[in-house]
Amino acid sequence: MDSPAAPTAATTSSSSDVLLGKYRLGRLLGRGSFAKVYYARSLADGSDLAVKVIDKTKIINTTMEPRVINEVSVMRRLRHPNIIRIHEVMATKSKMYLILEYARGGELLSKISRRQRFTDPIARRYFQQLVLALEFCHRNGVTHRDLKPQNLLLDDQGNLKVSDFGLSALPEQLKDGLLHTACGTPAYTAPEVVGRKGYDGGKADAWSCGVILFVFLAGFLPFDDSNLAVMYQKIRRRDFQFPSWFSKSARWVIARLLDPNPETRLSIEALMEVGWFKKSLQSKDQNQNHQIQTMFDLQLTMSPDKGSMSAFDIISMSSGLDLSGLFEGRGKWAKRFTSMMESAERIAERVTEVGKKLGYTVERRKKSVIGLGKGRMGLLIEVLEVVPSLFMVQVRVGNGEVGVDLVELQWGELKVELEDMVFAWHNDAV
Ligand code: ADE
Repeated sequence: MDSPAAPTAATTSSSSDVLLGKYRLGRLLGRGSFAKVYYARSLADGSDLAVKVIDKTKIINTTMEPRVINEVSVMRRLRHPNIIRIHEVMATKSKMYLILEYARGGELLSKISRRQRFTDPIARRYFQQLVLALEFCHRNGVTHRDLKPQNLLLDDQGNLKVSDFGLSALPEQLKDGLLHTACGTPAYTAPEVVGRKGYDGGKADAWSCGVILFVFLAGFLPFDDSNLAVMYQKIRRRDFQFPSWFSKSARWVIARLLDPNPETRLSIEALMEVGWFKKSLQSKDQNQNHQIQTMFDLQLTMSPDKGSMSAFDIISMSSGLDLSGLFEGRGKWAKRFTSMMESAERIAERVTEVGKKLGYTVERRKKSVIGLGKGRMGLLIEVLEVVPSLFMVQVRVGNGEVGVDLVELQWGELKVELEDMVFAWHNDAV
């Protein structure tokens, strides 16, 4: 990884490889079904970054978009030395760009395949860093649920960084204290997750840690079969064998993590008290986890007062908040959405186009206020830039006396047309 930028990107100054005027894109680092990750360099300060480009047009089912928003808001909330930071988020109509911390060492997995397997002390060091990151997440009510070596990256110091919180769940998504969506990667997935019963995300992560530790020490998976049904059966029956070179204590830890019963399985918190785990763990590592926690709490309580909430704090918090105070006038009926179009002007232009298309007379009142009129129906659309590159748009019934039924009817067709600029819908009633 000496020269991460692709030669073309480094030597030409074509504008096509500069993202939104700020980041020069380099080589492809990885790809998934909806996203590609590129190396990038900040034009402002020359720093190295990774850009995850999510193709919104490939997010065909609507359940995917909230997951992406979820990924972003989870990552924004968590700051830990062993978790990939998210610096910025940008979106166009068809794509979303996550500007991420660059992990220069790349995927930990590539080290395993090159070196075959890790020695006990090296495996333990990576494992400790993974567990510290997870313990921090769990303490903040977030579980990863998609842990696998592909999500484990290394920085230039060889420290482990956990990435891809795409499938993780925020505390609000917990139903009855248990998680209900079946997700994750089969080879690393806990049996209760595959079973689709409600499950405890923290205990499911503990299972995946057991699989990961096995892979670190063995160089191959504990449960593997080309037939998925057979693989699930092996998982449920804890049907695996320890290679001869595994130490007695490592076997004990793995066996306790790969307990098919989540109730009796070792938790991440209990794991941190185990002698094998604590060996060579500097107490500063554990203290650091607590210091970070304190900073995190402060950040959460302070940021709204300072008026410096990030776009994603707003998106993730606002579904349950009354946002009407953000806008000048109040009315009986209003709908709101956040948008990440390029500018307020572009949103106003788009609203104007839509209004005309649907037969409204359109009147630009102020720069960011548009009036739409049709018969007795009058709508006011206001655009507000909440933080840079995030806009809140409110559609409100104007002063005219008009029945709610008529408004809802008209709203249906307007909503369909506005949809392509919506990042997330917010609470309905004022
Ligand atoms: N591959 C996927 N995400 C990455 C990142 N943030 N840094 C380096 N390589 C990656």
